[in-house]
Amino acid sequence: MTTTTSFDNEAASSPTMPVVQLDDVGKSYGNVQALRGVSLSVRQGEITCVLGDNGAGKSTLIKVIAGLHEHSDGVLTVNGEERRFKSPRESLDSGIATVYQDLALAPLMSVWRNFFLGNELTGRFGTLDATKMKRIATEELTKMGISIPNLEQPVGMLSGGQRQCIAIARAIHFGAKVLILDEPTAALGVKQSGVVLKYIVKARDAGLGVVFITHNPHHAYLVGNHFVVLKLGRVALDTHRADITLEQLTNEMAGGSELEALSHELRDIDAGAVVRPSGRPAQIQSPLEST
Ligand SMILES: Nc1ncnc2c1ncn2[C@@H]1O[C@H](COP(=O)(O)OP(=O)(O)O)[C@@H](O)[C@H]1O
Ligand SMILES: [Mg+2]
Repeated sequence: MTTTTSFDNEAASSPTMPVVQLDDVGKSYGNVQALRGVSLSVRQGEITCVLGDNGAGKSTLIKVIAGLHEHSDGVLTVNGEERRFKSPRESLDSGIATVYQDLALAPLMSVWRNFFLGNELTGRFGTLDATKMKRIATEELTKMGISIPNLEQPVGMLSGGQRQCIAIARAIHFGAKVLILDEPTAALGVKQSGVVLKYIVKARDAGLGVVFITHNPHHAYLVGNHFVVLKLGRVALDTHRADITLEQLTNEMAGGSELEALSHELRDIDAGAVVRPSGRPAQIQSPLEST
């Protein structure tokens, strides 16, 4: 594995050539059609945000790119070559690093072991070179401005934001060309989300093609170059930053027309009314009394 981000594939380094491309991709799980006719381009040095409500097909989309599930229809191209990944390893070997919300790191292992997970450095006799791994992990995390005082600490003791940052730093260090992040800010508070968004931008600055999955249009608009909205497994919108405002993106996500229909449906309710309890108080039995 290289320790720098190298772009040896000349075709992929051209600004017009997507590093990952999906053409008319479909995925069904039995009777459930999770993705239909999805076309999407991911370019290096850009952040592509994939937005959509729960069940829109976001995770399915990344599972296809990450080699967890094979697509049922259409074509997946990586560096201009058609691919059909049979395992996550195949996707990783072609330069695609995927950070899952929960599975990103091994919680009981130390920070430095996690940094090198699957790419361990060994010494002359095949034993792990702990000293060197610790040194490199420290250097790389420091370079990215991630300060973790004790690299012997198990990753499970870190905050969700710190874990996401380590996973991002690791992908950059091991020369990934594409970084996929599935809802990295979903479980985080405002401050930690900000930190993770900052590292998403660092990955872009290192030349990676970033796919940022989120259902939060505000987070997407803070960093994104390219926005794709999925609805019920289809691409409902595919646009670039210059062509959309945050308001439009938020409206698209909230489902402007659906929201209108909903407010029509609820027109007779007296929103904001404060209702005083009336009549007899409810007879609520405590579980102890009922036994
Ligand atoms: N392994 C699976 N088996 C059956 N149905 C699935 C599976 N994974 C996802 N689905 C279905 O596919 C649709 C899209 O799900 P998913 O990709 O997880 O959406 P999102 O990540 O946008 O919430 C949903 O209807 C979901 O129930
Ligand atoms: Mg999901």
